Order: sequence, then structure tokens, then C-alpha cells
Amino acid sequence: MALPTRRPSLPPAARNPFEFGRELSPDELVDRAAELDQLIRTIENADKLFLIGPRRYGKTSLLHAAQALAESRGIVVLRYDAERYESLDLLAEALLTGAARALAGPIDRTGDLLARVAAKLKPHVTYDVSNQQLSLSLGIERNTATELPILADVLDTVEKLASNAKRRVAVILDEFQHVVEERGAAAERQIRAVVQRHRHVGYIFAGSATRLLADMTSDSGRAFYKLGARLFIGPLPAEEFKAFLDAGFADAKLKSTPEGVDAILELAEEVPYSVQRLAHACWEMLRVEPARQLDRDAVNAALLQVLMQENPAYTQLWNSLTQVQKRAAKAVVLERGLALQSADVSRRYRIPTASMQKALGALDRRGVIREEALVGRVRWRLEDPLFGAWLRMAQQL
Ligand SMILES: Nc1ncnc2c1ncn2[C@@H]1O[C@H](COP(=O)(O)OP(=O)(O)OP(=O)(O)O)[C@@H](O)[C@H]1O
Ligand SMILES: [Mg+2]
Repeated sequence: MALPTRRPSLPPAARNPFEFGRELSPDELVDRAAELDQLIRTIENADKLFLIGPRRYGKTSLLHAAQALAESRGIVVLRYDAERYESLDLLAEALLTGAARALAGPIDRTGDLLARVAAKLKPHVTYDVSNQQLSLSLGIERNTATELPILADVLDTVEKLASNAKRRVAVILDEFQHVVEERGAAAERQIRAVVQRHRHVGYIFAGSATRLLADMTSDSGRAFYKLGARLFIGPLPAEEFKAFLDAGFADAKLKSTPEGVDAILELAEEVPYSVQRLAHACWEMLRVEPARQLDRDAVNAALLQVLMQENPAYTQLWNSLTQVQKRAAKAVVLERGLALQSADVSRRYRIPTASMQKALGALDRRGVIREEALVGRVRWRLEDPLFGAWLRMAQQL
């Protein structure tokens, strides 16, 4: 009998501590204690709050963590991502289903209760014995003219169910800009009109179209003005993020250096998602090369691996831009997003000032760049800093 050949020794199987993309739980969040506390207070007081922040800064993770904490205190949390639903009536149907499951009480009375508190919506309730859950569909006619009133009716129904069940309830709508973006002032007015009357339900509206949401809630002529508090989230405190990164390497007995950790934060421009993504790649690299230490060269090598993985997506994005948009994107990277509409930048990148403005607007709408307000001036930033690193490499900037 042939003896099994000896395999080369593999590094011990361990789980990478750096996670990107997933919703984090309360104990996995770096910092954000004050933000989390404000979300919980909003929920407990049945207040209203707008959570506003750039993409990939950790809004959904915060909502997830707030939900977990609130549920542990007996509060019913109904959290939905508006982006996942093609239309508002589908979002409304999902919300009502969640509310009915949590609040309507014994199943044999659910149909009657809903028929009473949501008569206009003509809800049809079915019960699936195999998973012991109810399902619900709305019998009302659904089209673009009715979807907003349907959502408003469902929100009213949730309030009635909460009052009826004597339970505290929170409705959390993530990517909220999708609800109002294309529906304009009428949507803002209708939603305000219902939610401002509610006393048993707290609301958190979260979104990443920073400018849109900031304008919507700060303009005294708009319906959401002063409807609720506003919580803006920014970068994580660098020192805490560094300590978190150090610990992730040290726990696996991998050697990090302050210079390497600084390089991760710098290249990822402190965007939490990108920091975790790059740290994840560094950790994987050191795991198979445990003698190596995490210095700047090691971080650059790991970055290269990430850029190779992202190359097809970044190439596709780049190819989809117009010539002027490409030049504008290069200017964002090379000028660090500053003074892009100056005569000097316009001349060096061969873009007339008006075209630059249009190109920046188009890149903003595509989610490639975003505006950051600094004191007295505006800076444009790439939403994904690693795309900037790719641009520098692929375009030899
Ligand atoms: N407080 C935090 N501590 C550590 N990492 C974080 C934190 N917040 C976010 N991240 C990192 O960012 C990733 C994205 O977070 P999340 O999905 O919550 O952001 P988001 O703002 O909702 O993004 P999007 O705008 O794409 O919806 C997380 O998976 C994690 O890697
Ligand atoms: Mg999110």
C-alpha cells in the first residue's frame, strides 16, 4: 500500500478578523458608541431621526447594531432596505407583513384585526404551517399613483398595531433616499403627514445620498425640515481604528508595524469598508508568509492583489465613462479633489469650466465621486478610494 505523500505544511486555519461588506454587530463595531446611543434613545423615545453618511461608512452596521440592542430590550424593530424593493407598495407590503408577524397576536385573530385596522388595504393573510409564519398580500389596486398612499396607510397601520399590542416599535428605513428621490415634494409631504402623528412608533430614516438628505432635512421650505434629529456619520477615529487593526494582526501572532497600519488607513482614505478590505488582504498575505512583517511594502503588495481582483469591475466602470468624465476623474485624484473648477485646473485637464461642472455632477450621480464640505470650500472625493489607487496604476498617473 502506497504511503500518503506528505503535504506541505499549511498555516493554521484561522478566521480573518477583518470583514468588509457584512452588517456588523454591536460588539464588532469600532467606536460609534455615541451614535449607537443616539439611535437607541430615538427608538426608546419613539422619536424620529435621519441618519446620514457617505457610502460604506457603516450606516447599515449601525442600524443592525441598534436593532439588536433594541430587540434585546423588548422593542419590536421593523428594518427594511428601500433599495431592495422595486416599488413602494412592495416595500409597504413587506413592512406590513413584518408588523403583522410581530404585533398581531394569535394567528386565528390576525385576519380580523387587520381587516379592522387596515380595511383600505384589503390585506389577505395566509398561514404556512410548515414554517409557522403568516404571509400577507394587499388586495388594493397597485400602480404608480397608489404606491405612496399605500405606504402611508401601512405606516398608519403599524402605529395602530403597536398601540393595540401595547408594544414599542421602531421602523427603520435604510437607503431612504430611494423612497423620495424620484417622487419629489409630494412624497416628502405625505410621509411627514403620517409619521408626525405617530406616538408608538419611532422612526429612523437612513441614507447615503448625503447632499440629497442633508438638503431635504435642512431646508425650511421642505416637509422634512425639523421633523426629526439629524445624525451625520463621518470617519472612525483613527487611533481606535489603528488599535483595532493592530489587535487583529496580533491575535493571530502576525507582525504589524505602525508604519504598515498607517499605510492601510492612508491608502483606504479611512473609509471603513476600504480599510477593512485592505486589512483583510494584508492579513491573508501575512498568514501564508508569517515571517513577513506588515510594513509599507507589504501593504502595497496586498493592495496590488485587491486591485487585480477588482480590475474587471474597475475597467468596466472606466470604459463606461465619457472622455470628459475620465479627465475629470483624473483631476479628482491628482488634485485631491480641490479647486476643480479653477481656470488653472480647467486648462491643465483641457476641460472648460462648465463641462467640468457637468462631468463632476455626472460622476456624482453614478456614485463614483461625492462632495465633501470643508470649511469655506468643497472637496470632491472618490467614493471608493481603491478605485483611485487603480487609476493611478492602470493610467500611470
Ligand atoms: N464601526 C465600524 N467598525 C469597523 N468597521 C466598520 C464600521 N462600520 C463599517 N465598517 C466596515 O464597513 C463595511 C460596510 O459597512 P456598512 O454596510 O454598514 O456601511 P453602509 O454605510 O451601510 O454602506 P452602503 O452605503 O454601501 O450601504 C462593514 O462591513 C465593515 O467592513
Ligand atoms: Mg448600507
